Amino acid sequence: MDLKELISKKEIDAKITELSGVIINDFGSSVYAMTVLEGARVFSNYLIQNLRTNSSTVENDYIKLSSYNEGTESSGKITIKKNPEKDYKGKKILIIEDIIDTGLTLKFLKDYLTRNGASQVKICTLLDKPSRRTVKITPDYCGFTIQNLFVVGFGIDFNEQYRELPCIYYIEPNT
Ligand code: IMP
Repeated sequence: MDLKELISKKEIDAKITELSGVIINDFGSSVYAMTVLEGARVFSNYLIQNLRTNSSTVENDYIKLSSYNEGTESSGKITIKKNPEKDYKGKKILIIEDIIDTGLTLKFLKDYLTRNGASQVKICTLLDKPSRRTVKITPDYCGFTIQNLFVVGFGIDFNEQYRELPCIYYIEPNT
């Protein structure tokens, strides 16, 4: 399988600094984050570190969802594999996600958190593939808008491979 670099670590670092500035502007000195496992773990670590060094208090929780079967296509059915541990009722939540594709996962999560008492839900995604959208969902904070490519690296996997790569690569189609 051929991997081609799409976004360098330097570009990611600069974008994280930029995003954290905008988020602090909107959230003020206290951010309640919810990281979507597994793919967003690396992005979230860097983003939260940056928010903290820029004098924001960040509380973070994790939620694990599953929508993908093996491979590159969403199954469309979302299930919760791990619930958040803290009580988020009445809180303004910053969802931290790796990538929005069809939008089904984040539409489900946003509705779920709102139904369960979040006062407001904002979405921060590292990557967005708007051309793939099947439901209406727009990130409030987005690192990079990309074409319809299957990407890996910086925490993002293909069948549990390539998460450890330091930046974003795409899988060359037909390889
Ligand atoms: P959606 O529900 O179709 O928006 O899918 C969102 C989830 O699918 C993301 O959180 C990723 O886990 C996964 N996903 C979507 N596109 C890619 C990709 O290009 N590479 C790896 N995972 C992806």
